[in-house]
Amino acid sequence: MAAEIRKVGIVGLGAMGSGIAQLCVEAGIDTVGREVTAELGERSRDRIGHFLTRKVEKGTLAAGARDAAVARLTLTTELAGLADCDVVIEAIVEELAPKQELFAELETLCRPDAVLATNTSALSVTEIAATTSTPERVVGMHFFNPAPLMPLVEIVRAELSGDAAVETAYALGERLGKHPIRCHDTPGFVVNRVLIPLLNDCVRVLDEARVTVDDLDAGMKHGAGWPMGPCELLDLVGLDVHVHASEALYDKLREPRMAPPPRIVAMANAGLHGRKTGRGFYTY
Ligand SMILES: NC(=O)c1ccc[n+]([C@@H]2O[C@H](COP(=O)([O-])OP(=O)(O)OC[C@H]3O[C@@H](n4cnc5c(N)ncnc54)[C@H](O)[C@@H]3O)[C@@H](O)[C@H]2O)c1
Repeated sequence: MAAEIRKVGIVGLGAMGSGIAQLCVEAGIDTVGREVTAELGERSRDRIGHFLTRKVEKGTLAAGARDAAVARLTLTTELAGLADCDVVIEAIVEELAPKQELFAELETLCRPDAVLATNTSALSVTEIAATTSTPERVVGMHFFNPAPLMPLVEIVRAELSGDAAVETAYALGERLGKHPIRCHDTPGFVVNRVLIPLLNDCVRVLDEARVTVDDLDAGMKHGAGWPMGPCELLDLVGLDVHVHASEALYDKLREPRMAPPPRIVAMANAGLHGRKTGRGFYTY
């Protein structure tokens, strides 16, 4: 694997890809972002510039450092633009077939020593790697949303990942200022495997114990030391995102606690997605 990480490629500059690209350029790494259209790429660059400018306004980043960071991002619509990257991180739509196609193509275009990482939340890294003939260089790098702010990255070892690829991904996580943890490729990895059924239990308790939303949140904050209540957290994550992740976990593990409770499915279907739609368990 590449001894030093000089250049990182990001495929898909949506919510996660933009955040990861921002982390890379802020860490001083030359970064190539690939989007399907030039317009989407520009939109991501604008978003990164906007967040870095907010840091300048808050006094946490010098204006010169912002300009240098933005200049480290180059955009491409061609996968071939990633040919000289040491690590490529995929953050496209959460569907197996497009990810598998992408990895098969990356394998032919990227240097043989490049590490290929996926930011998937719920798909199997092993299944994504299986479409390549070099699965030893495929790993998971699961960042949390919003990537620039959330300190954790799960470094996921697929069935055939090699030690070198895992350690390169771990080192990159550290260089991006994250707290990496290592785990194997199992549904939900570590945090979602624990958190999703726990949040589902919290929603079930609302009905079972006839506790109010405010009191449940107060209970978990003041009795269990949570920094925010489960309903506040669900509103922040997005009820639609939680239901989707919960269904994916249930599909794989078939444990009843993994299935989203009907109450939260109904809320998600009604458009009560939390903070981003102005209404969830709370009104914003
Ligand atoms: N949003 C989250 O909370 C979160 C957290 C951790 C991991 N993830 C994972 O990160 C990945 C991206 O999620 P997101 O929330 O940033 O999604 P998003 O919809 O914001 O961005 C996806 C990007 O991929 C591009 N894209 C879509 N289909 C493509 C294709 N076939 N080929 C190439 N590019 C394509 C789109 O143009 C878009 O910019 C998913 O695998 C998701 O599970 C998301």
